[in-house]
Amino acid sequence: MTDIADVLLVHGGTPLEGEIRVRGAKNLVPKAMVAAVLGSEPSRLRNVPDIRDVRVVSGLLQLHGVTVESGDRPGELVMDPRKVESANVADIDAHAGASRIPILLCGPLLHRLGHAFIPGLGGCDIGGRPIDFHFDVLRSFGATIDKRADGQYLEAPKGLRGCKIRLPYPSVGSTEQVLLTAVLAEGVTELTNAAVEPEIEDLICVLQKMGAIISMDTDRTIRITGVDSLGGYTHHAVPDRLEAASWASAALATGGDITVRGAQQRTMMTFLNTYRRVGGAFDINDEGIRFYHPGGPLNAIALETDVHPGFQTDWQQPLVVALTQAAGLSIVHETVYESRLGFTSALNQMGAHIQLYRECLGGSACRFGQRNFLHSAVVSGPTKLQGADLVIPDLRGGFSYLIAALAAQGTSRVHGISLINRGYENFLDKLRGLGADIELPVPRPASQERTGAVA
Ligand code: EPU
Repeated sequence: MTDIADVLLVHGGTPLEGEIRVRGAKNLVPKAMVAAVLGSEPSRLRNVPDIRDVRVVSGLLQLHGVTVESGDRPGELVMDPRKVESANVADIDAHAGASRIPILLCGPLLHRLGHAFIPGLGGCDIGGRPIDFHFDVLRSFGATIDKRADGQYLEAPKGLRGCKIRLPYPSVGSTEQVLLTAVLAEGVTELTNAAVEPEIEDLICVLQKMGAIISMDTDRTIRITGVDSLGGYTHHAVPDRLEAASWASAALATGGDITVRGAQQRTMMTFLNTYRRVGGAFDINDEGIRFYHPGGPLNAIALETDVHPGFQTDWQQPLVVALTQAAGLSIVHETVYESRLGFTSALNQMGAHIQLYRECLGGSACRFGQRNFLHSAVVSGPTKLQGADLVIPDLRGGFSYLIAALAAQGTSRVHGISLINRGYENFLDKLRGLGADIELPVPRPASQERTGAVA
């Protein structure tokens, strides 16, 4: 069980109402910070959230001789990579913890130093989280990988050369791996079956500002022409559409009304369509999006997660909590991570009726259909939720438990809340500002807010 300082008491039943702000995307900011290592000049990243993932990457960059300092404005980081150097392997291992970011430092470090090291990687427990595509990508560019007891040692004895790569699946991280390696590799790289999430487009914008030559076709093909050197960038990070959708789902599940400043329609179109189908309402303006429950029953829907422009897997868990309040049978087919529905067992303890299936329900056959994974769910609702003892399993599942506890009658004890700091800036203050009745059983030392891993 977690330390008591890591427990939140949630007295549910109050609709969340008010306004919060989301800043730069957790799934872009760390990658843009890694891109800074490729430059011959300092880079300036704006709209940076104060989350655990950013602190981990700041530390990793500093271990490699990159200075990382706050800029003149709130949420601005200035990174100077002019003295990049090798880091002590034990220090990388200790600092990275369960982070998955070291793997994305490989290309930049191979270019700058000729070698790189990756400790054992972690991340959310939502599936196997393999890194085989990443290694295949790096080998295609000419890297050698030596697996030893403490991690993987990489070298590029003949430099890195552009190549043709087809990803077996449009993986976000592997696409970023290709981009961060190809921009300084010799010659042209052609990547097919690439991921095209908005955070990847934003990383391409960052790299283009640095001097890279990258084009995107409509068919998931990305072409990169390697250049000899890159400069720095000044960039305002794309807002966090995943955090925005979490708050939207919280508004729906609690019968509330939340304006998310910073939320952008064009990165959330698929979510907004689904939200409307469920019966949620929203108003969009230049500052953000107001999400609210318009009253009346919510609708059961069929939902399938997919790579962009499909319904993002990270939107699934928070929305499932709202679906427990919809009238009828909802079907959810998770096609990106094989184990991202495990969090529903705790919702059932709270009174939800969610049944998991190994078959691909309600949509097309996916990679997991024949592989014995419980990756489809039937949610029957509406069900009244009751407060319970909950242990946070992963980042999005954890936030979903908070939503469920807020929507439930009675008090829940939510254990392991520090994990949520990885991707949700200042979430306790935001919850209080929205009227949530929450309390920390004992005063939390500030250091406790800063533990956890990277998704
Ligand atoms: N995959 C492989 N081999 C690989 C890489 C991926 O089989 O070498 C598989 C994965 O197991 C998964 C699928 O490919 O089944 C997609 O994984 P992807 O590489 O796209 O995920 P990722 O880059 O590790 C990022 C986000 C996730 C988000 C996914 C999908 C970051 C730090 N993480 O993960 O975010 O769910 O893309 O969009 O950017 C979160 O924010 O909570 C989170 C988990």
